Amino acid sequence: MDPTERMLRACRGEPVDRPPVWLMRQAGRYLPEYRRVREGVPFLAMCRDVERAVEVSLQPWRLLGVEAVILFSDIMVPLLGMGVELDFAPGPVLARPLRSAAEVDALRPVDPRDGVPYVFEILRQLRRELVGARIPLLGFAGAPFTLAAYLVEGRGSRHFSALKRLMYREPAVLRALLARLTDLTVAYLNAQIEAGAQVVQLFDTWAGLLSPADYRAWVLPVHREIAAKLDRARAPLILYVNDGAHVLDAMIESGADVLSLDHRLEMAEAARRIGRRASVQGNLDPCALAAPPERIAAWVRELADAARPARGHVLNLGHGCLPDTPVEGVRAFVEAAKALGPAA
Ligand code: CP3
Repeated sequence: MDPTERMLRACRGEPVDRPPVWLMRQAGRYLPEYRRVREGVPFLAMCRDVERAVEVSLQPWRLLGVEAVILFSDIMVPLLGMGVELDFAPGPVLARPLRSAAEVDALRPVDPRDGVPYVFEILRQLRRELVGARIPLLGFAGAPFTLAAYLVEGRGSRHFSALKRLMYREPAVLRALLARLTDLTVAYLNAQIEAGAQVVQLFDTWAGLLSPADYRAWVLPVHREIAAKLDRARAPLILYVNDGAHVLDAMIESGADVLSLDHRLEMAEAARRIGRRASVQGNLDPCALAAPPERIAAWVRELADAARPARGHVLNLGHGCLPDTPVEGVRAFVEAAKALGPAA
């Protein structure tokens, strides 16, 4: 079974010889080879530099043998096409946070293919590089709620209280912003599929900050709309929610093909609850990659076993690799996945 077939079948819940493996944030500062390409280049310039972005996207495959390549970019990139001014320090920082109806209206509705054409050029080049080896290419987008969190708050935050203040005091403004971002996300992901992405992942990093009721009111309808409007016959959809143990049932109702779980959920229990309704991705704690290789291998075997009640499994972490993630730990994770056999 080739890696593209394995990945697509795992996402759709069809039988596979073993789970495929890749890691969120697999291209990043933990790799000395990434730091070399990145040297002296601001992060956003890297995202726009097609040659560098292609090179660092391919590094984890060439150096570590991961079985999927994800576009190197950032969830904030498509907002640049709408006229949003932002920087990274190291997370996103907005020049002017957005808090009013007039500011939401001022976001330019633009076709992402015109707003950020380099993203699609990176995908087209990656697909050409990967087609011979049959390695699947993944596209991604930030989910509207998480993009809104940065736009309203202006930067990362522990509580995102400005965002929640808007939600409770001026719901119509936040609703208008989410509607605008939902249209953007659908257009952006469908254009990525058009440019060669074979699977797409939606990152809702901050949706887990909401209560189950608020998540159902503000986030679930957005996920459902995106799942309904994507060309999923061509590319299955993976939905990631960080710190989302309390909203797993609502994640299942999103209609996504794969639910990407963080490490706070116990895989066995989550897989039982999900059952045949979706595949699962995850969910080793990224910090656990600091353990000795044989412990990492044991966790990989346990995860693959625990995920069996779900209809399919993609081995991954519960969140992205960190700048201090040991390369040896990533290697052990990938090797252990490849050593897994078919279900007993
Ligand atoms: O997975 C990959 O290898 C693809 C590339 C990718 C990046 N960001 C590159 C990046 C992806 C999929 C993302 C998604 C992203 N970006 C998310 C969702 C996933 C998650 O982590 O929850 C979020 C919330 C962001 C916003 C963001 N971008 C933050 C909070 C930061 C700073 C955190 C950090 O790692 O320092 C970034 C910067 C960023 N995005 C880096 C990379 C490789 C580090 C920049 C650098 O090289 O200095």
